[in-house]
Amino acid sequence: MKITVATVKPFAPAAVQKIKETAEDSGYEFALLEKYENQSDFIEAAKNTDALIIRSDKATKEVLEAGGDRLKIIVRAGAGYDNIDLEAASKNGIVVMNTPGQNSNAVAELALGLMVFTARGKYNGKSGSELKGKKLGIHAYGHVGKLVANIAKGFGMEVFAFDAFVPKEIIEADGVKALDSADELYSICQYVSLHIPANEDTKESIDYELLSKMPEGATLINTARKEVIHEEEVLKLMAEREDFKYVSDIAPDKKAEFEEKFADRVFFTPKKMGAQTVEANLNAALASAKQIINFFENGDTTFQVNK
Ligand code: 3PG
Repeated sequence: MKITVATVKPFAPAAVQKIKETAEDSGYEFALLEKYENQSDFIEAAKNTDALIIRSDKATKEVLEAGGDRLKIIVRAGAGYDNIDLEAASKNGIVVMNTPGQNSNAVAELALGLMVFTARGKYNGKSGSELKGKKLGIHAYGHVGKLVANIAKGFGMEVFAFDAFVPKEIIEADGVKALDSADELYSICQYVSLHIPANEDTKESIDYELLSKMPEGATLINTARKEVIHEEEVLKLMAEREDFKYVSDIAPDKKAEFEEKFADRVFFTPKKMGAQTVEANLNAALASAKQIINFFENGDTTFQVNK
């Protein structure tokens, strides 16, 4: 039995080592495909393994079909699995799992880091502003949202959240004010941090109508997915509102236009950095390896997402 790690964006070496040791200790073969440039290399790897550990790698229909009868499980070492064709996986009898929560702290810390960076004018030497006393809206209260709330409280921010799927009592138990709608959240909060997944319902849902509700000095922080943003409409809003800032860990498709028009009010990390810490890599990598072994040895499908 073979476990293959296929990652365009590599894990920290210690995390790769952890997967290798965990696999080999349980009698599994280990293979590594890192920084591959052609999707054909990923497809080739999928043909020759029983299990795959991936990150944002594009597990398309072609990859899943290439798995044939051999590939049984793919674990996305991370939270969002919008990079995997779930339908094709199910059709080909492949179990898909994620590792919820394992890299969340790294993403949450980056969200706050981006807020400070923006509030201080990207460290341009001029007087910026503080986060203390400002209202922060957390859009979706999952693993990352909860951690962002906790850190933001340490900064002295007033924290609000909206999540259509999390009961208000759960949110309020953390000392966070739970709101009834996204509209309300955006109307109240100067800072909004996005933690919604990318799917058919959320695609381009962060649009002109919603964002224009934000009060003076608005900053949108995106450590979620670029697909949830209606880029055309954000460009329109930023042209109309000189106070509006957009910072993201995922460069938009229209990055060049954003940077050309609003250089002082946008920032995009050169590579998606949210989960890129040694700690997050170790957590997600080890969880992935353990989930695979537990699946093969005990039939455990706890974290399956393509039921
Ligand atoms: C996730 O969904 O877990 C994060 O967006 C991290 O993605 P990455 O593993 O591609 O950095």
